[in-house]
Amino acid sequence: MKNLNSLLLAIIALVNLQRINAQSADRFFPKADLMTIGSYYYPEQWPRQYWERDIKKMAEVGFDFTHFGEFAWSFIEPEDGKFDFSWLDEAVELSHKNGIKVIMCTSTPTPPAWMVQKHPEILMVNAEGRTMQHGSRQHISWSSPVYKKYVERMVEAIGKHYGKDTRIWGWQLDNEPSHYGQYDYSPAAQISFRKWLQAKYKTVDKLNEAWGTAFWSIRYNNFEQVLIPNQKELIAQPSPHAVLDFKRFSADEANEFLGLQYNILRKHILPTQWITTNLMPEHVEVDPTRINSLDFVTYTKYLVAGYDKGTGPQGFRMGSATSIAFANDLFRSLNGTTGVMELQPGQVNWGKFNAQPLPGAVRMWIWHAFAGGNKFVCNYRFKQPLTGGEQYHYGIIGTDGVTPSTSGLEYIKVINEINTLKKHYDANATMPPAYKKRWTAVLYNPDNRWEMDNQPQTNQWDFMAHLKRYYVALKQFGAPVDVITEEKDFSNYPVMVAPAYQLLDANLVARWKQYVQNGGHLVLSSRTGQKDRTGKLWEMKWAEPIYDLIGAKVSFYDLLPDSVQGTIKAGTANYKWNNWADVLEPMAGTETWATYTNQYYAGKVAVTHRKMGRGTVTYVGPDTDDGALEKAVLARVYMQAGIAIEDYPEGVMVDWRDGFWVGVNYSGAAYNVAMPAKGKVLIGSKTMQPASVVVWKD
Ligand code: GAL
Repeated sequence: MKNLNSLLLAIIALVNLQRINAQSADRFFPKADLMTIGSYYYPEQWPRQYWERDIKKMAEVGFDFTHFGEFAWSFIEPEDGKFDFSWLDEAVELSHKNGIKVIMCTSTPTPPAWMVQKHPEILMVNAEGRTMQHGSRQHISWSSPVYKKYVERMVEAIGKHYGKDTRIWGWQLDNEPSHYGQYDYSPAAQISFRKWLQAKYKTVDKLNEAWGTAFWSIRYNNFEQVLIPNQKELIAQPSPHAVLDFKRFSADEANEFLGLQYNILRKHILPTQWITTNLMPEHVEVDPTRINSLDFVTYTKYLVAGYDKGTGPQGFRMGSATSIAFANDLFRSLNGTTGVMELQPGQVNWGKFNAQPLPGAVRMWIWHAFAGGNKFVCNYRFKQPLTGGEQYHYGIIGTDGVTPSTSGLEYIKVINEINTLKKHYDANATMPPAYKKRWTAVLYNPDNRWEMDNQPQTNQWDFMAHLKRYYVALKQFGAPVDVITEEKDFSNYPVMVAPAYQLLDANLVARWKQYVQNGGHLVLSSRTGQKDRTGKLWEMKWAEPIYDLIGAKVSFYDLLPDSVQGTIKAGTANYKWNNWADVLEPMAGTETWATYTNQYYAGKVAVTHRKMGRGTVTYVGPDTDDGALEKAVLARVYMQAGIAIEDYPEGVMVDWRDGFWVGVNYSGAAYNVAMPAKGKVLIGSKTMQPASVVVWKD
């Protein structure tokens, strides 16, 4: 029996491996195409007589592909079980006639009214206990078996209809699968959560053990008693272990929902058609690193919506340079292939305040997507809608239906520029050695983020802000960065930064040691190693599992009120911290790089550094607001390692891709890019004004 099981497992592993290999996403995008550009169009939202004019226009201005159908379920299946693709056939044919490829979508975020009327049990319930209603989108529970049956039938129908159609380039499943910052507490989700727990823990005793339910007498007699932890219905803190598992479950549920659709489509579609979905990089409830059921994952990006102040006085009109950069480096690193499925087309309607982007910003964003390796950029959306919830949202074409908007003109400009660039493409170009030498990994695990969001310990703790303090510095050094997860091979990277890596196990510590012994330079920071993977503190000294690795003890940590500044000295330079401070005690042979200079522990150590084998380990105890200490420490690590770095001002980024250097300037001042005398500017100019770009070849 045991042997049979192992055999079965081996077969399953082989099948999975084959699927992943067969779907290796690179083959879908010829390298010489560099990056193609498309735009969303909703035939069902416009009178039929406009379609020809609109699609012709799309082709005329140079778009390569369009995107249909992610919100069209009630047109595809107007009545239960009755499918109508005739209208969509017409739009697909018009696109084809005009030389435009189609990304076809499954319209799962918008089930028809008849379905909700017939089966109100498919609706999602939010933390307040409110049941969502028909009238918008993403109001359904992915855990509902009834909804999933309808999904299966619709996906099967559209897969059969367009699966062998060469006019269809690829597929998008759903749209931004999520509940837009909310979680699902519906009865269906409760049942599914319990099943997930049962599969994970097998017995309720094991669950009780993992969740530490002896605390406050939470202990369960059976899985049926377990509820999704909901702070709105709890007097005091929930079990952190339950919260962590719920976050993991929700992310897995999204992956499963997408996998369900993927498997149906794959049965029917051509091997040349790819399948993806589009995620929002900053949203945490759906975890891109957990999506393993697709050919690749794409992202959507809106930078100017009042939330991001960016750099300099006009930063709010450009967003931060790290916004697209981080999305590029995270999504591309998942399996080597990504695209931007939606990019802000100009002014939007849903922000805190909806400013006009700075002229040039839209063009700069597209080039920034190019710099980060994206295979395509799809503009959201071709026409500004005259009706519906996004009336104030720009499109490529304005409200009269024929005139390009200001940002539309920027798109058209980039399309022409990319066509020019293609002529300079050199298939044999290799990454410049000095650039390659500073290739850096940022190790990222959303488990850490979820855990610390739940137990921040100070309202000044912000995991993403902490991570980005390091990320900003790396980009200022001109380092190519991959944001990777633990499944990846660490040995490719001369430097690895693992910010606030709170949850770990002996295996990860051993891998880090091996990485360092073999010559890697590892940088760890505040809160690392405090807990095991279930979120339990170690029955050891505080964060003891990393002591051997970092060559120091973590004596304690401290937090301050926002009105009090902690001070630090590193060499002759002084720094301030306010958010978090791990206080360290170096062991023999470990260097002290910075010390605290106020509070009752003045003189104690803030940053340590040690050699180990052929590499080094640096531990940065504090989390500062301005990131100056973090940047100075990182710079010293590269210097000591003999890795030359750049010093770009904040907001300026320079990346290399496919033989081209690409510079973007999100800062408030002009920036003059240094390039060799023989360097040839192909796009833009060497002096980059704010919201502009330069592309050159050395
Ligand atoms: C995206 C969404 C699109 C559209 C857009 C408006 O987040 O996926 O469907 O609503 O926002 O900016």
